[in-house]
Amino acid sequence: MTGRPERLSALLPEAGVDLLLVTNLVNVRYLTGYTGSNGLALVGPQTCVFITDFRYVEQAAVEVDPAFERQRAAQDLIDGVSDALPPGELRLGFDDAQVTVRQHARLREQLPERVELVPAGQLVERLRVIKEPQEIDRIRAATQLADAAFEQLLWGGLVGRTESELVGVLERAMREGGAQRPSFEAIVAAGPHSALPHAHPRDVEIGRGELVVIDWGAELDGYCSDCTRTVATGDPDAMTREVYELVLQAQIAGVEAIKAGMSGRDVDAVARAVIEAGGHGDHFGHGLGHGVGLEIHEGPRLSQRSDDDLQSGNAVTVEPGVYLPGQFGVRIEDLIVVTDDGCEILTSVRKHLISTD
Ligand code: GLY
Ligand code: MN
Ligand code: MN
Repeated sequence: MTGRPERLSALLPEAGVDLLLVTNLVNVRYLTGYTGSNGLALVGPQTCVFITDFRYVEQAAVEVDPAFERQRAAQDLIDGVSDALPPGELRLGFDDAQVTVRQHARLREQLPERVELVPAGQLVERLRVIKEPQEIDRIRAATQLADAAFEQLLWGGLVGRTESELVGVLERAMREGGAQRPSFEAIVAAGPHSALPHAHPRDVEIGRGELVVIDWGAELDGYCSDCTRTVATGDPDAMTREVYELVLQAQIAGVEAIKAGMSGRDVDAVARAVIEAGGHGDHFGHGLGHGVGLEIHEGPRLSQRSDDDLQSGNAVTVEPGVYLPGQFGVRIEDLIVVTDDGCEILTSVRKHLISTD
């Protein structure tokens, strides 16, 4: 037993359910180890069942935690739920953010009357936000190989190469370093394009005298990394340096504010106050950061609307930015593990303004 099914079972009474139907594949992977594309799990104090279809039986035999009883169902796995349930009256929780209206209707149709369907989302996610040491090791390893890919990118230079080409360089370097894939489509955005927080790379050559936002990450053994650096080609002017320095100070203040017990809202406020004091509050239109793990974006959130409190073992980004439409953007992002008295910064790429060709 990994301990994850027991920890999940311990959350069920307060959610008012006896058993949880887990349909989100990331959550299924977290609980069982299964990495295929069709599987679900039923977890409760007396029940640990994994269901897949014919195509994945062999894979499941290798991957799925032996604590789970493996069952095979038709391709529409919802049809297998009824047969896997324990006897007696049952409140069956389901992920209301994930189960479709159609699946819900089908479940209701097939389940006996003794089974009540109860919306119960975000339970596995509550476990996932606190990383186990082995998960942190994987995120750290993903971060290290992404960091190395960035050094390789800089070594080859930016000027005269297109944004798309540089994305290719980063992604190839990460795969060569051992990553399964990028954790998201990398962003390389130069000049005025860097003012778009989620810019798509273009077949446009990078010139001298531009700022280039580079946001990239690796996926290793299922775990993601996430980092952003903003690099100058040539010699940036005073105003550009000033904005860069402001974002850097906000980023450092955000990192320094992090420790278990702080709220995601308060950490966001600390970094945001620096940018507001510099007169660029209106140019920082997104949250300060997010959790990272099996998914590139997960809990906890660091933002003005977050209700999350930081806990030891959270892996979060701190990524303030200032975006000046038609001019340029600056974002600096580190990946951090929250500890009881502060944090460990996983990212090792230097943060002062790098000027390169
Ligand atoms: N890579 C997207 C983000 O930083 O959230
Ligand atoms: Mn990022
Ligand atoms: Mn991020």
